[in-house]
Amino acid sequence: MLARAIPSAVFARRRRALMESMGPDSVALLPAAPSVPRNRDIHYPYRQDSDFYYLTGFPEPEALAVLIPGAEQEFLLFCRDRDPQMEIWHGRRAGTQGAMERYGAANAYPMADLDKILLPLLENRERVFYAMGYCPDFDQQVMGWINQTRAKARTGVRAPATFIALEHLLHPMRLRKEPEEIAVMRESARIACEAHCRAMQTCRPGMMEYQIEAEIFHTFMSYGAGWSYPAIVAGGDNSCILHYTENNAELHDGDVLLIDAGAELDGYASDITRTFPVNGRFSGEQRAIYELVLAAQQAAIDQVRPGRHFNEPHDAAVRTLTEGLVTLGLLPGDVDELIKAEQYKAFYMHRTGHWLGMDVHDVGDYKTGEDWRVFEPGMVTTIEPGLYIPVGGKVIDAGWARLGIQLETEVDERWQRIGVRIEDDVLVTAGEPEVLTAAAPKAVDDIEALMRR
Ligand code: GLY
Ligand code: MN
Ligand code: MN
Repeated sequence: MLARAIPSAVFARRRRALMESMGPDSVALLPAAPSVPRNRDIHYPYRQDSDFYYLTGFPEPEALAVLIPGAEQEFLLFCRDRDPQMEIWHGRRAGTQGAMERYGAANAYPMADLDKILLPLLENRERVFYAMGYCPDFDQQVMGWINQTRAKARTGVRAPATFIALEHLLHPMRLRKEPEEIAVMRESARIACEAHCRAMQTCRPGMMEYQIEAEIFHTFMSYGAGWSYPAIVAGGDNSCILHYTENNAELHDGDVLLIDAGAELDGYASDITRTFPVNGRFSGEQRAIYELVLAAQQAAIDQVRPGRHFNEPHDAAVRTLTEGLVTLGLLPGDVDELIKAEQYKAFYMHRTGHWLGMDVHDVGDYKTGEDWRVFEPGMVTTIEPGLYIPVGGKVIDAGWARLGIQLETEVDERWQRIGVRIEDDVLVTAGEPEVLTAAAPKAVDDIEALMRR
């Protein structure tokens, strides 16, 4: 997480809203993400926990946020102490003073004082909110505090009796993006679009997938952004491997290149996929598959409106894709029956989108009870249909299917080695869906024109 784009007042507003929904007699505990060792004394680049960051903006490991609605000091931050020697080696720390001055803590303490300070705060509180079951060490620590509080029962102290998963309150808040978050997401999307344009303009037959990956990261890093997930840079048959991340093959004349790469800016993800021909010109088959995926994507985006539910874009994409596959002769039979039997899954095996925000697959339930969640302004979803026909790809044989016999035959070779996904980030508004990633071209002519330059 780099530049701090969300103002302090926004973090304070979120804490207030959460505490109002927690109610009195409660306490929320949020640990920072641990720093994860990579090997010996080297650690992976640090990434703060999204829930913790959403409420504090505090970027350091070894910290705990405590929210106590109605208390004289409602927001406490436990953090690493200042330490001149450690800071010379490993970098600056906010320390308790910085936690109060820069991050809005009403009071801050060193982690070493956690037990001493926290235990009395849990006494006579009814409910504890925290994310249970994600971090065994933290679960154990919380249970330790609760047991120590219970041990004081004979002195008249009441221990918390109710434990509530914090995400029930917090994740619906994260699902509905505030204007300040949408501004950062727009910028994260803009950077990722520029990276995809750079990849299109650089790509030539004979280059390696990792060289294109380097172009993408060049753009991310030149804006102070990082990546929101490891980039997929997949040429030719690799484009049919959904989570391909080896990125180490040569790019061949006549193949497609599928790039799924998103930036992370101040904790907010973008998630874009573009597919284009390595040599800058779509072949007839590539173009037919591509235009079909694009039509499915446009049909799906059109469903991202208040009042429509989360699965409507997927339904729209599946129908368009299935109709197109029948027209191209790649799927045999009746569209409704093919959809019912899910035969499109031979070429389209994933779903059409997911929530997007601080996490690339963001928090928020997809269903409320039995029903799909209905879109509301401020929600952001990806829309990412695709078709994948690998070398040796098979489909139900049309002739035998008419006789009621399910027999697989290989797809004609001219359709093989073509994997196409087109992915955009779409904001639900009161009116038209807003495509945050529109600056990365996706019309065939626009892609070919950009690649000619
Ligand atoms: N890049 C991950 C996804 O598209 O869901
Ligand atoms: Mn995605
Ligand atoms: Mn993606």
